[in-house]
Amino acid sequence: MRKLLFVVPILLVAVGIAWAQGGMKKKKPLPYEFGSVTINNYSQQAGMPPVMFDHWVHRQNYTCRLCHVDIGFGMTAGSTKIRSADNMKGYFCGTCHNGRMVHNNKKIFESCAKEYSREEYKTCAKCHTRERSAAKEDEFYRFSEQMPGERFGNKINWELAEEKGLIKPVDYLEKVSSKKVNLKVNQDFAIKAKVEGMPDIIFSHKKHTVWNGCELCHPDIFVGVKKGTSKYSMTEIFDSKYCGVCHEKVAFPQTDCQRCHTRPPQG
Ligand code: HEC
Ligand code: HEC
Ligand code: HEC
Ligand code: HEC
Ligand code: HEC
Ligand code: HEC
Repeated sequence: MRKLLFVVPILLVAVGIAWAQGGMKKKKPLPYEFGSVTINNYSQQAGMPPVMFDHWVHRQNYTCRLCHVDIGFGMTAGSTKIRSADNMKGYFCGTCHNGRMVHNNKKIFESCAKEYSREEYKTCAKCHTRERSAAKEDEFYRFSEQMPGERFGNKINWELAEEKGLIKPVDYLEKVSSKKVNLKVNQDFAIKAKVEGMPDIIFSHKKHTVWNGCELCHPDIFVGVKKGTSKYSMTEIFDSKYCGVCHEKVAFPQTDCQRCHTRPPQG
């Protein structure tokens, strides 16, 4: 362990340059802002405020796979090009936000409509909003207080929260999800860090599959027909590629070097 603590600061300096070039010098989001996505392809144009989507609200209830594979949301902000008409027909946000689907014994509020009263606009404003309300921030802290802590990101250890049964993300929705094909989960493996003295990365296929299924990573992010086929470096990860597609924006951020670089250098 002492060796690890010694090695990481040195490498921090070594990678520092690449890191700065990778555009990591943006403002660090607050815990409740981490994983927040602003969607604004059409809203402002149509006279509505942009849409604010929070991952922390949703990932406690559903797996990444359910939304990003079965429902079909893209893995980059704004890429899905959601229209209000899609939502009204029951696609995208409207898959759940249709005023009928029940969650925790409560109907989930409805998404877009063509006509609406002043009273109904309050529902629109839950999604179409310029600012996060103080009440929403409070809600985040009330939730995160009950979850195991972490140092970065939402400051929630999501993995542990699930292990302890504090959250139980749903992975299947009737009429939305296709029948699950039970693909054999691959073995976990170590990825050599290539640089001498740098702790290797233990990548858990099994754990990642619980959250992401296979389709989220293969073949879009990792070709992965054979281990080692995708060649990538830390610089590319800092540049939001490979592991960096998720780690930084929604899963724990790249600042948490030791959570990936866990295994002391081998031989
Ligand atoms: C309730 C549905 C839902 C769940 C659950 C969900 N996402 Fe998302 N995610 C979205 C939507 C919607 C967007 C925005 C897509 C768009 O703007 O086109 C998004 C965007 C993203 C982005 C891009 C963010 C950016 O700033 O560019 C990443 C990365 C991502 N999700 C990863 C994940 C991971 C990892 C999980 C599981 C821990 C997850 N998502 C769970 C709906 C979901
Ligand atoms: C897989 C189902 C599902 C999908 C898809 C989904 N949501 Fe949700 N959403 C929920 C549930 C469940 C809640 C929490 C219950 C509630 O507040 O009614 C919620 C809560 C929210 C809230 C919090 C409201 C508040 O003020 O507390 C917002 C905002 C929101 N969703 C926006 C969106 C947007 C925008 C999309 C599409 C880009 C989306 N959701 C897609 C299920 C979903
Ligand atoms: C569950 C979240 C949610 C709620 C609630 C919601 N919307 Fe939307 N709406 C969206 C999303 C997501 C988009 C796509 C945002 C974008 O790209 O600009 C959108 C887009 C729109 C657009 C842009 C025009 C277009 O053709 O897409 C209009 C207008 C709109 N919504 C009206 C409304 C009205 C009116 C209400 C209230 C009756 C409402 N929405 C409630 C999520 C929501
Ligand atoms: C979070 C992303 C992620 C998920 C989810 C995921 N994989 Fe992988 N997979 C990888 C990475 C990274 C590699 C190594 C790729 C490389 O080095 O080119 C890999 C490698 C593989 C390999 C080659 C293994 C070897 O030893 O040569 C196979 C086969 C594979 N994955 C199948 C699957 C299947 C089946 C699932 C679902 C049960 C799955 N993967 C889920 C990221 C993922
Ligand atoms: C499709 C999204 C996605 C991709 C791509 C991805 N991860 Fe993850 N990873 C997650 C999520 C979600 C978690 C749960 C913890 C969290 O959200 O903070 C996680 C957790 C982890 C953990 C802690 C759990 C464990 O396995 O012990 C490690 C380590 C990790 N990821 C390493 C990697 C590495 C290395 C890569 C690239 C080879 C990678 N991840 C690619 C989504 C992803
Ligand atoms: C999400 C997981 C993850 C996190 C967090 C992470 N790394 Fe990496 N890192 C990797 C993976 C995967 C590789 C291996 C790429 C390969 O060998 O194919 C790697 C490789 C490296 C290498 C070897 C050289 C290279 O460019 O490939 C260095 C040095 C490194 N990381 C430093 C860091 C530092 C410093 C931090 C913290 C600021 C960090 N890493 C955080 C996953 C991660």
